[in-house]
Amino acid sequence: MVMRKRSRPVEADVPRREEVKFEDVRLYLVERKMGRSRRSFLTQLARSKGFILFFFSLYSDEVTHVVSEDSHASSLWKWLKECAPKNLQNVNVLDISWFTDSMREGRPVDNLPTLPEGSTSTPVTTVSQYACQRRTTTENHNKIFTDAFEVLAESYEFSEMEGPCLAFRRAASVLKSLPWAVRSLGATLDLPCLGEHTKAVMEEVLQCGRSFEVEKILSDERYRTLKLFTSVFGVGPKTAEKWYRRGLRSFTDILADRSIHLNQMQQTGFLHYGDITRAVSKAEARSLRNIIDEAVRAITPAAIVALTGGFRRGKEFGHDVDFIVTTPELGKEKILLPNIINGLKKQGILLFCDYQASTFDMAKLPSYRFEAMDHFAKCFLILRLEASQVEGGLHIAEGDSRGWRAVRVDLVSPPVDRYAFALLGWTGSRQFERDLRRFARVKQRMILDNHCLYDKTKFLAATTEKDIFAHLGLEYIEPWQRNA
Ligand code: UTP
Ligand code: MN
Repeated sequence: MVMRKRSRPVEADVPRREEVKFEDVRLYLVERKMGRSRRSFLTQLARSKGFILFFFSLYSDEVTHVVSEDSHASSLWKWLKECAPKNLQNVNVLDISWFTDSMREGRPVDNLPTLPEGSTSTPVTTVSQYACQRRTTTENHNKIFTDAFEVLAESYEFSEMEGPCLAFRRAASVLKSLPWAVRSLGATLDLPCLGEHTKAVMEEVLQCGRSFEVEKILSDERYRTLKLFTSVFGVGPKTAEKWYRRGLRSFTDILADRSIHLNQMQQTGFLHYGDITRAVSKAEARSLRNIIDEAVRAITPAAIVALTGGFRRGKEFGHDVDFIVTTPELGKEKILLPNIINGLKKQGILLFCDYQASTFDMAKLPSYRFEAMDHFAKCFLILRLEASQVEGGLHIAEGDSRGWRAVRVDLVSPPVDRYAFALLGWTGSRQFERDLRRFARVKQRMILDNHCLYDKTKFLAATTEKDIFAHLGLEYIEPWQRNA
């Protein structure tokens, strides 16, 4: 990348002193990727608000704020060092969002979205609408907004309003990807997926520290009841709604109602309610990995066990622990799950097991209709985990002296030639997966799911996740960057 240093004539001339309001803020706009009309618009705007602006050949040691629309930090810093070696320590090198915020507020805002030296962070101006083109770690700088969006999304989900539900999920996902906290609406100007409604909620949160719409939902009886009922393992939104319509409002109501038949899963859900609704820690996940590893090795030493789901994305806590198990020899995977389940039973640690045999059939692929569940053999388990097996102890309530807890574990067992697709699909996050499939469909006219990638003429082979990203023309995103 070449940045022009002093070849162009001074364009917007010296600021007119009589309009200057902020003497100690002296801006320099890096012109690359700005375009003439945009540049002159920004210049006019800044001057009209009383800022001092330097342009092109006028880069001087007086400059205090360097603003760049193109945030490739490394080349920007190289250029700065060449032409302004003296006072770089005193210069704020900023993203354009600081500029737009300041213009909106009519004063230099304090929030400084800096472009640190050596950073390669995605520039604000090019945040993709697809989560699979963003890098999202577990560090969320915008939790106050995303928590609010999550409540709204869930409330729409309970009302089966998919459109608004997805809109809030997408908005939350975009904000989670930002390496900085949104401090004003102006900073969101260039972000995708933020509609009027989301911005109105953000405005409330910015001004009042909370959203009244969200508070209203949180105190709404229907929302609270559905939330409570669906927190039980085995109870989905449909069942919760049915119970709510019958006038049931609490667990006591449900358990006292003789006309209600709880299935095995729901009975276990109530039995271990406290444990299952309590987050699983990383240390507990590690211990479970050892248990699954051992159970698998007892069957075939060559078996492959991979931790997937949220823990593979680097999360500290999860609602369950997800594993993929398979064998290098195609077809041999069929014996795995039934045998693992047996092994766990023999150890006396299997508290619940819902085994679903494989319905996978390559001849029925690709599927043009999206299905929430894949066709691989899988089992949803509840295991008994002993405190003695967990480094640092169990993640349980203070005063709980049982010495064990129940944990949810999912195992899925694809044939080895489907391994990469299953791993990619089960690593999540849900939003990341949704956007991978959407990107494949809309941008590449391909079909992606947990089983395969189809380009409308043939199935594309993949042995690693990297192969799949490459087929899709996407930069590889590491698991810990998929927390969209
Ligand atoms: P989870 O529900 O376990 O979520 O599904 P998570 O990301 O690990 O988060 P927590 O911490 O447990 O709450 C993991 C991934 O597996 C996919 C989901 O879409 C998600 O991306 N999945 C789950 C499937 O593809 N198929 C299934 O049948 C179940
Ligand atoms: Mn999980």
